[in-house]
Amino acid sequence: MKKDWIKEMRILVEGSFLADEPLRKHTSFRIGGPAELLYIPKSQDDLIRAIHFLDKNGIKRYVIGAGTNILVSDSGLKGCVIKLANSLRGIKVIKKEKQKVHLNVMAGEPLRRLNEFAVKKGYIGTEFCFGIPGSVGGAIAGNAGTRLGEMADIVKSLTLVREMGEIETIERERIFFSYRECGIPEDSVILSAEVVLRDGGRDVSIKSIEELRQYRKKSQPYGYPSAGSVFKNPKEDSAGRLIELAGLKGLRLNDAEISQMHANFIINRGKADAKSVIKLIDIARSEVQKLFGIRLELEIRLLGEF
Ligand code: EPU
Repeated sequence: MKKDWIKEMRILVEGSFLADEPLRKHTSFRIGGPAELLYIPKSQDDLIRAIHFLDKNGIKRYVIGAGTNILVSDSGLKGCVIKLANSLRGIKVIKKEKQKVHLNVMAGEPLRRLNEFAVKKGYIGTEFCFGIPGSVGGAIAGNAGTRLGEMADIVKSLTLVREMGEIETIERERIFFSYRECGIPEDSVILSAEVVLRDGGRDVSIKSIEELRQYRKKSQPYGYPSAGSVFKNPKEDSAGRLIELAGLKGLRLNDAEISQMHANFIINRGKADAKSVIKLIDIARSEVQKLFGIRLELEIRLLGEF
């Protein structure tokens, strides 16, 4: 790796450069050691140039959205962490046909804003997003969803930045979404998405949103930092139900705790570290495996060395 790569990159691209930046400031878990460099691009072109520069120089890159579904190791990340949330923003109507409306949404737009935009205009299709934190890019990358739907239902195409900063647009037929997975190539960064919604029906949206809000309020822990559901639900079952049956609700290691309210959430009661969270994950996994013969798969993404 180049020695003075940060200096060199500063000359080539615009944006915010934060060296040795604690990533706990950028994750909903409030956990994570320092990034050698946290870079927030100023524009789409800066992002493309930055990726070209990093790839050309063999510098490891990580891309995060709003940091709501990740666990970063306590030792942090070597290389460059590119944060897209709140930097690359924008929602534009690109066409209307029959009862459908096509939007272009930039990856850094908060998912909440996309939902608000749609509800205000009377476009149907994003209601399931209500209450899901994070950015549009992150939500697509993890095919975020609820019982009402998932990102795969509304994405028509994706524009990606590939290795060396190459741009590629892929249509829905070639995006292999599955449960909490997007299936795009490893090296790609989601730049923007074409989203298709249905026109007409503010009342429908508001009713589903209200139902979801009530449901979440009583079933998910909101008062403490977390990364949402820790495990994917196994086929036709619920990770939370199995972990609860294993008697693990409330199990605490330092400041990390398996939530009393929903066993598939781990909450940070103050100064939790990634190491304690990983221990709780291992315990939940091995107990559920022992008792029910089911291997729980992680939904949250681990970044760094564990
Ligand atoms: N349950 C328990 N004990 C628990 C938690 C849940 O018995 O500690 C039971 C509930 O009583 C319920 C069942 O498990 O009958 C399913 O739970 P819930 O309806 O709360 O949904 P979930 O499967 O835990 C999924 C998504 C959530 C999403 C909700 C609501 C996954 C892994 N999680 O949770 O998404 O908000 O449905 O639609 O698919 C996320 O992905 O980060 C997330 C929060």
